[in-house]
Amino acid sequence: MKLINNCLYLDYNATAPLVKPVEDWLTKGAACFGNPASTHQLGRKSKSLINATIDTIQSTFNAKEYDVFFHSGATEAINSVVKGFSFNSLKAKRPFHVLCFDSDHSSMVNQREHVEILGGTFQVLNTKDGDFNKEEVIKALKGLEGDKLINFTYVNNESGVVWDLNEVLEIKNETGATVHIDCVQLVSKVKDWQKLPLGLDYYTFSGHKFGAMKSVGFTLISTKSNWTPLIRGGGQQKAMRSGTENAFGTNTIKLALEYNLEKFDYDKVNNAKVEIEKWLLENFNNEITVIGANAKGRNATTIFFSIGDRDINTLMMALDMAGICGSSGSACASGIIKPSRVAKAYGLDDISSTNVLRLSLSPFTENSSEIIQKLEPVLSKFLK
Ligand SMILES: Cc1ncc(COP(=O)(O)O)c(C=O)c1O
Repeated sequence: MKLINNCLYLDYNATAPLVKPVEDWLTKGAACFGNPASTHQLGRKSKSLINATIDTIQSTFNAKEYDVFFHSGATEAINSVVKGFSFNSLKAKRPFHVLCFDSDHSSMVNQREHVEILGGTFQVLNTKDGDFNKEEVIKALKGLEGDKLINFTYVNNESGVVWDLNEVLEIKNETGATVHIDCVQLVSKVKDWQKLPLGLDYYTFSGHKFGAMKSVGFTLISTKSNWTPLIRGGGQQKAMRSGTENAFGTNTIKLALEYNLEKFDYDKVNNAKVEIEKWLLENFNNEITVIGANAKGRNATTIFFSIGDRDINTLMMALDMAGICGSSGSACASGIIKPSRVAKAYGLDDISSTNVLRLSLSPFTENSSEIIQKLEPVLSKFLK
């Protein structure tokens, strides 16, 4: 078991440490500071790193029919998709509607205010037991006149539940809706993560979730899409997102994707997750409720459970003192004690939805025994 700063880090869904090739590249002082728009050799060097990253992304996901748009992370990307879509409809003087789900990330759920200011409607659809109902989604979309954008989260950041994108493709075919897929929690968390079901409009990724730098991510945009950029300026990135391009951060995406492609061993980490969860259920069955345990699809790295009416802050403190980093809900909400929307969508009450713990493993976890050994004294003392 690899400790990070002497800690057992079980918060990979919040963010991941840099993978080795990224760390090596950065600490070697790789200086590619030239502006990629400059025509001199330092500019060209930066541009070539960006182009090589685009090639790596397109070949990793077999996505030659998609443009790659770099941004500062998924929050920016989702804002760009939602507002760009709204501007498009406004330009065409068509009514527009944005839909998402109660279990989506707050960067999506919190778009309501802007969509409504722009004159569109915003709906948060309910999930049941962590999943969407295809027929209900089709019905909701067909009931709306005008342009429709809908977000699906491929892998849920809190529960690790994986949605079936083939069903989403059917929804698109039946309704003609524009579809954005939040793929932030995909890389090295799902078997064959690179085999992305293509055919939808947008797929968004964030570098810091898979070992690249923070504040750099990318979105695959179907070349058939009618993209209106949110950020205007000097026309960089085929005018999809203006602003001097970040060759430095972009190259870390390439290095991190290559590393994940080579090193991820689904069976190893999934077995570790299954063993930890089995141990939890055998030892604390009366004290915890695992959320998403019976989902159709689950990722290989996430265990999410409620501790009922016991105070999550005290448990978090005890874990921290024992050198274990977990999370009480989604990373963006850490520190703010409010019920988890994802737990609530499973029907848990406000108190049980507040007292939730997420353990998200490194995708490169080799076995469960040392993790269990470290968790055992804290959980036994606190939960028994
Ligand atoms: C599913 C999901 N979507 C979006 C985001 C936002 O990503 P970023 O940190 O790149 O803005 C996160 C981050 O936790 C996430 O887990």
